Amino acid sequence: MSIFKSDTIKKAVVLLSGSGSNFQAILDSIIADEIALEICAVISNVPGARGIDRAQTHGIPTYIVNNHDYSERISFDKALLDKVAKYDPDYLVLAGFMRILSSEFIKKFNKPIFNIHPSLLPKYKGLNTHQRVLDKNEKLHGCSVHLITKELDAGPLIIQGEVAVKSDDDVKKLAARVLKVEHIIYKKALNLFITNQITYENLRVMKINKEIEIPLKVRVD
Ligand code: GRF
Repeated sequence: MSIFKSDTIKKAVVLLSGSGSNFQAILDSIIADEIALEICAVISNVPGARGIDRAQTHGIPTYIVNNHDYSERISFDKALLDKVAKYDPDYLVLAGFMRILSSEFIKKFNKPIFNIHPSLLPKYKGLNTHQRVLDKNEKLHGCSVHLITKELDAGPLIIQGEVAVKSDDDVKKLAARVLKVEHIIYKKALNLFITNQITYENLRVMKINKEIEIPLKVRVD
């Protein structure tokens, strides 16, 4: 049983496409009573995604909404939103969800949609971030939790986790270190909202705890 009062527990639906290690880290933190969140469903656009198995292990309802089954993005988004709406969640948590949500979807959902991206945004939006960071000989890399807006990887930043790039790094080593930090910062970002230290209005992050400077920075060496 959770130590949190049931009226303080927020509800989230998780969207993912792959391994789901970020989802697992959030779930572990819920199980450890660190955050007052309930994950009411996990939806994947990819059949066989490992994240779906992780959810089923914990008895969380899962769904596949395969984008290949829809000829148009608008019908895929509608099917996805219909599934999400069934749970009336407070938040949507994108955890390695490799589809872009349409602005109609974002507008209709009209509640916080979180995403984690493997770079220090606004640098390195898009794919292959670790390789691009190495190609540019960057000394610092990391990950960002942000809110989703209609511009790709450009919504308001909440927390960034910084990781030093080492001289012997390759994509695999760097990605593994960044992923560890992702697991630390995603639950922290969610908790800032759950505990009302940050509130959200009209797709903008609003600080309410004056001691917080957004984006929060977490440095892991
Ligand atoms: C993470 O690197 C995340 O930043 C990106 O996709 C990856 C998902 O990893 N959006 P996992 O599925 O959570 O293990």
